[in-house]
Amino acid sequence: MEVLGIDIGGSGIKGATVDTVAGVLTRERLRVPTPRPAVPGAVARAVREIAEHFSWTGPMGVAFPGVVRDGIVGTAANMDPSWIGVRGAELFGGQAVVLNDADAAGLAEMTFGAGRDRRGVVLVLTFGTGIGSALFVDGVLVPNTEFGHIEIRGKDAERRASDRVREEKDLSWKKWARRVEEYLGRMRDLLSPSLIVIGGGVSKKVDRFLPYVDLGDTPVVPAALRNEAGIIGAAMAAAGAVRVP
Ligand code: BGC
Repeated sequence: MEVLGIDIGGSGIKGATVDTVAGVLTRERLRVPTPRPAVPGAVARAVREIAEHFSWTGPMGVAFPGVVRDGIVGTAANMDPSWIGVRGAELFGGQAVVLNDADAAGLAEMTFGAGRDRRGVVLVLTFGTGIGSALFVDGVLVPNTEFGHIEIRGKDAERRASDRVREEKDLSWKKWARRVEEYLGRMRDLLSPSLIVIGGGVSKKVDRFLPYVDLGDTPVVPAALRNEAGIIGAAMAAAGAVRVP
């Protein structure tokens, strides 16, 4: 089935049509900058622009960087607070399915990417403007886990170890990798996952920092679908190809 997938991020909104059975983009993705302030009306216009670019009127999956329960936005740490309480289908149109961005990326990775056929506890973490998390138990998603907000050294983890912090503080990859390793170590201690998958904007540059990350016998691998996982997972959710609890 072909579905439009949209991934709303802190700096860019990305979209493409997706073959949800093969897990691939069917057309080249389009990226538009996230409007400032990132209020619902402005973001909805940007999403409409993407849909028009693809001449799309069918089902659409939208990955949003906050808690989304039953299609209703619950948090918006890196977006405008006016998002809280917004009903996705009302804002984006009745055919839109809205879910958390890291959950979307995780669903795609578990079906087509680095987590394929992996049983047990698998943790997918996305590093971008924030840190997103998707937790799977025997392939089933535990939605809206929000592990980017655990406390590390008295701070929200994503305020120490997101890719945005690396850029803003101009940290070397090695220095940033130490922060990431500390964060991943905490997640390993809390959840004992059998695999950790690293996705998000930074997944294109894993060679720069993953060699400095050592979690002992817990494997840490890059997302196979890189930063396209969110688009693909959002489309899969709208196609009903995955179960979003
Ligand atoms: C949000 C999460 C989101 C993550 C990545 C965090 O700030 O709270 O819901 O998944 O950023 O965008």
